[in-house]
Parts: sequence; structure tokens; C-alpha cells
Amino acid sequence: MIKEAIIPLAGLGTRLLPFSKVIPKELLPLGNTTILEVILKECFEAGIKKIILVISNRKKIITNYFSTDKYLENNLKKKNSSLLKSIRHLRYYKKKITYVYQNSPKGLGDALYSCRNKIKGNFFLLVLPDDIIKSNNCSKDIIAINKKYHCSVIASKKVKKSELSRYGIFKVSSKNKNLFNIQKVVEKPKVYRELSNFAIIGRYILNKNIFTAIKNIKFGTGGEKQLTDAINFLLIKNEKFKGYIFKGKYLDCGTMSGYLNSLKYNL
Ligand code: G1P
Repeated sequence: MIKEAIIPLAGLGTRLLPFSKVIPKELLPLGNTTILEVILKECFEAGIKKIILVISNRKKIITNYFSTDKYLENNLKKKNSSLLKSIRHLRYYKKKITYVYQNSPKGLGDALYSCRNKIKGNFFLLVLPDDIIKSNNCSKDIIAINKKYHCSVIASKKVKKSELSRYGIFKVSSKNKNLFNIQKVVEKPKVYRELSNFAIIGRYILNKNIFTAIKNIKFGTGGEKQLTDAINFLLIKNEKFKGYIFKGKYLDCGTMSGYLNSLKYNL
């Protein structure tokens, strides 16, 4: 059973400037909680016991969010304030979180690689916090698919042609209902020939040997190690990856317009 999850949070969050200049975008509010808590809740409900948060020195404030603030708690206690419970539950998260640092933004592949010594199981969950999936626990679904097929699984969604260059896009084969086999993936493609209109949405079950693949690939555009290159590396070696067209409503919290739109929903 998959018990470990990695959540990469070390990116600069430039698409959400100016907010993200001082507040990590993952701590922006969503209803009466934060983007990160919505993601953590999804992980715990899917049976995850250990969370690895990849942060950077610039985003150390994330550790404050989960640490106990004795002064604040005592103050609320003295006033007998009901607000105490709005921070007390964060202790539960704290016990399950391990921090790993990635101090220069060298890509999603590099963020994952920094966790290589923390993962014990053969497969683990990777969740990108920009992507909120409402009304269905996508992490739970892909864990169940992994259990059935014993392979890597990536969540996917059909996107418009005009959006293809914003995502990792699959070349697919043997599609059956909401599952397909992944043949190849291209990160933010400029040429779409051969590709489908199925995009990667940020929920992955990956095999531990993704770390060897990341080690073997070169730094690409912008000096970054792309996770998609590591996935292609494994596909060439005949490793099986399934795409899963998930149920539920997708909210893109990684762009300003998407984030503002997501505020309409009750999460
Ligand atoms: C990342 C991945 C991309 C994926 C997207 C989903 O891109 O690299 O393959 O489609 O998340 O949100 P980013 O949003 O970091 O540009």
C-alpha cells in the first residue's frame, strides 16, 4: 500500500505575483482553509502517512505555519477563544511532515531527486499543489489503480488545443474508458503532431526507479531537470505508465485567473 507522498513547494510562484512575493502561493486562502491544507487533506484521506514537503529557504515560513505557536495559543486560551481550534489541528499535520530543501529552482525532476533518500516504498504519490481536484479524491483513485495494475499512474484531463502548451501532453495508446497507456510525454509542446489532447494534471504514482532516471537525464531548458524527461527515459526502458482521466472538478490554482476563479468554490 502506498503510504508516502511528496509535495514540491520550492518554486518561485511567479504566476501568482505579487501575492507570492511574501506569501508562498500554497498558503493562499481557499474558502476557510489554505491551498496546501486542501492538498494535505486529500493525501491523508487517501491513506498517506508520511508527507515530504520540498521547500526552500525563501519559503521557510511554511514550517512556521505548521509549528506550534505557544504565545498565540496561550493568548487564545486565556481569552477562552473558540479560535484556538482554528490552529490546533495543524499539530496533526506537523507530526506527519518531513521537510527537504531545494534552494535553487532547478525543476520538478530536481525537486523529486532531493527526496530520493526519504522514500522507502516501491511506489509513492506525487501531488502538485497548483492543481486542486474538487468533489473526488484523485489520489485515492490512482493509488487503487496502482494496486490493480502494479504500475505508475498519472492523472489526466482533456484540454483545449489553445491550452496544450501550458501542460505536459501525452502520446497515448489503447484507451479504454477512463484509462490509457502512456507512450510518451512532451512538456509544454510547441508542435502537437502525434500527441493527444490529454494533459498531465498534478497527481502521479511513481516507481522509486524514477530517481535513477532523473539522475540519468540532462538539465534541459532553463537549466531545469524535467520530470517528463525522466518519465520518457523509463518508457523507453518499457516501464508501464497508465493515464487516468479523473472524475471531479479541476481548479488550476497555479495561475492568477485560475486562483481567483477557485475562490468561488466551497472546499
Ligand atoms: C507542471 C508539469 C506539467 C503538468 C502541470 C500540471 O507544470 O511540469 O507537466 O502538466 O504541472 O499543472 P507547471 O505547472 O509547473 O508549469
